[in-house]
Amino acid sequence: MSLLEAKNVSMFFGGLAAISDVSFEVKEGEILGLIGPNGAGKTTMFNVVNGFYKPTKGEVFFKDKKISGLKPHQICKMGIARTFQVVKPLQRMSVLDNVIASAFLRVKGRAQAEEIALETIKFTGLYDDREVISKGLPLGKRKKLEIARALATQPEMLLLDESFAGLNPHELDESIEIIKKIRARGITIMIIEHHMKVIMSISDRIVVLNYGEKIAEGTPQEIANNPFVVEAYLGEEKSA
Ligand SMILES: Nc1ncnc2c1ncn2[C@@H]1O[C@H](COP(=O)(O)OP(=O)(O)OP(=O)(O)O)[C@@H](O)[C@H]1O
Ligand SMILES: [Mg+2]
Repeated sequence: MSLLEAKNVSMFFGGLAAISDVSFEVKEGEILGLIGPNGAGKTTMFNVVNGFYKPTKGEVFFKDKKISGLKPHQICKMGIARTFQVVKPLQRMSVLDNVIASAFLRVKGRAQAEEIALETIKFTGLYDDREVISKGLPLGKRKKLEIARALATQPEMLLLDESFAGLNPHELDESIEIIKKIRARGITIMIIEHHMKVIMSISDRIVVLNYGEKIAEGTPQEIANNPFVVEAYLGEEKSA
């Protein structure tokens, strides 16, 4: 069954078409990769899905309900959480308090929110850093905190925007394990990532954007062998 469906979505900024007539679906339980060169429209697509932007044209459905036009907090409450390419934790709060603040989306009492937050930070490997002020965290841990904050809202679907960028090889492996564990919990994942080894190894399917248009969709194998994708994106990655 398709959990999320984008139908003929376009997003214009002035004269610029950041997304042009893009349709795709995300099936329940799958990991869908979203790739493409810088400026291809990937983050804009997340901003449309989570309600930051109302698409100029087209519609987005989550569990067959139209969500395009709803506000971000309404969409989050329905079960879609996201992380940000530029990490934005509440800087002066501790790791634990940051995650507690997210948990309040679904629970009222402090004790219950703290219970969810503690479980989430153990799950993401941040327990030893729970009292650290978020501003002082190194990048790898800030990226994990972003994931923890999204998870604490108890989503059915998680949108990850470059959660692996800037990580060292050890952190990369850890994060891949976390993503696999999140999926094993039944959470559907859509992930934007430039790191080809990561995206190819964890995605069930991949959608490729280029200049706002969808140029390909398929299994990692199909995408790696697609001449349009190689020309628009992978070729450039390989020579980089
Ligand atoms: N709020 C905005 N106002 C005007 N233009 C925007 C806005 N947001 C994005 N754009 C433009 O839309 C295009 C797509 O940007 P987007 O951030 O979605 O790309 P991306 O695929 O996420 O790229 P990257 O890999 O560099 O993160 C770019 O040309 C960008 O400059
Ligand atoms: Mg982006």
